[in-house]
Amino acid sequence: MYVDNHCHIFKEYYEDIDKVVKEAKDNKVDILIISGCSKKDILEGLELIKKYDNVYLTIGYHPDEVDNVTDDDISELEKIYNENEKVIGIGEIGLDYYWVKDNKEKQLDLFNKQLELASRLNAPVVIHTRDATQDTINVLKKYNLKGIIHCFSGSKETADIYLKMGYYLGIGGVLTFKNTNLKETIKSIPLNRITLETDSPYLAPTPHRGETNSPKYIPLVAETIAEIKGVSPEEVGRETTNNTKTLFDLDL
Ligand code: NI
Repeated sequence: MYVDNHCHIFKEYYEDIDKVVKEAKDNKVDILIISGCSKKDILEGLELIKKYDNVYLTIGYHPDEVDNVTDDDISELEKIYNENEKVIGIGEIGLDYYWVKDNKEKQLDLFNKQLELASRLNAPVVIHTRDATQDTINVLKKYNLKGIIHCFSGSKETADIYLKMGYYLGIGGVLTFKNTNLKETIKSIPLNRITLETDSPYLAPTPHRGETNSPKYIPLVAETIAEIKGVSPEEVGRETTNNTKTLFDLDL
């Protein structure tokens, strides 16, 4: 059994969500955790967790949303979190300096406010960080939180820092790409600190690179980890599922 710890399975990207959920199950991906990181996606996510027993949701505002979010919206996250048992974390939240660098202060402010919220709720966090490693580490060090560094693809040194801080590293399709240093880095990341994710519809693994990603492809990531670490895909599934259970306090 596997978990997809991070996917965006919304109508905007998929014609038939029933099919996405069914195909995931057919490939032993029994649990899906959706990342709702805009107002629209949070509302859609809340419908999906009502409809599907095996689907859970995390909520939070992506750095791209920085100009659309008010303090009231953050209070609304708190209300949604408290009222819905299947809303299990705050995220994805974080810093993204890849596209826009001139709004760092605003991004940092939104990130801090949402981390404060997670602290208050004692909720796990899902962290988005792109071209912003040092700032992300500096900010996270101010809090005593648990969570996942989503789509981790950094160096061994960066991995070590996050691991020491108690974070899990979310590993997805990038690991299967031909020219990635992540294959080397993953050797030093213990299985009990890895969570599996697709980030669907983005970052489809080899041999589907460039296509629309789907949670059903999680086994391709698990198989790549298994090969590198010399264990079976089943063991990767077992250990990483346990990590999800521990982090989100789920009874799977
Ligand atoms: Ni994402």
